[in-house]
Amino acid sequence: MMLVKLGGSIITRKGGAKQVRRDVLRRLAHEVAAVPELIVLHGAGSFGHTLAKKAGLKQGIARPSQFHAASLVSADVRTLHVEVLRALQAAKARPFSMPPGQVGFARGGQLAVMAMGPFRLALQQGFTPVSCGDVLLDEQQGVAIVSADAVALHLARELGAERMVFATDVDGIYTAPPGKPGAELIEHCSPDALRKHVLGGSGKTDVTGGMAGKGQAIAAMAELGCEVWVVNGLKPGRVRDALRGKDPVGTIVRG
Ligand code: IPE
Repeated sequence: MMLVKLGGSIITRKGGAKQVRRDVLRRLAHEVAAVPELIVLHGAGSFGHTLAKKAGLKQGIARPSQFHAASLVSADVRTLHVEVLRALQAAKARPFSMPPGQVGFARGGQLAVMAMGPFRLALQQGFTPVSCGDVLLDEQQGVAIVSADAVALHLARELGAERMVFATDVDGIYTAPPGKPGAELIEHCSPDALRKHVLGGSGKTDVTGGMAGKGQAIAAMAELGCEVWVVNGLKPGRVRDALRGKDPVGTIVRG
């Protein structure tokens, strides 16, 4: 089984108003459509981070107005989710919606429980489960914001994925923030080396940990035996090549 995450920063315009990048989404849907035994995940981008941050939802619900905000973010994520499902359908894939907010819950801000039965059954029956970063109910703090990276790690642990492809807006993982002088693309690395190279936030509005949170999830997945590829989803063909095991420009993290 393989996993692919379409980052929120490539399928939406992150940081501003809620806007789907339909051209990118359509192309990526075609790149993943023919892959059997695949779970597709997507981030929330501007459909989740902007309001979640403004309303302070990461720490859960502390005041009445946050109920409304949580409900709005949940609905906004579903709006994007339906766009992803439609794009995959148009590409002749067989997507089946499985947002973690419906099949799981959190405890203390972290994903705690997610039903694996529906994912297993969907795969067995020949569907492509589609999950995402989401607002989840939380036993301790009302709600939690859970990234698709955390959902992917949970799925890899429970279902045993052989490869995970992260489609991001940069060519891979760098030794320093991309664009900074001396920043070099890391082509291959171990989970330990990755932990040393992860250098903090991604610089955009991101309530689920930015690159640091992603780096930890990637390292943990690689330690489970799941090979993790980080590629640029804005460059045509890279996600498809990574899913086929062809070595595209990018970073491969192996335990
Ligand atoms: C974020 O999910 C979930 C919410 C803000 C509701 P991700 O962390 O996976 O999203 P991106 O890829 O960074 O946009």
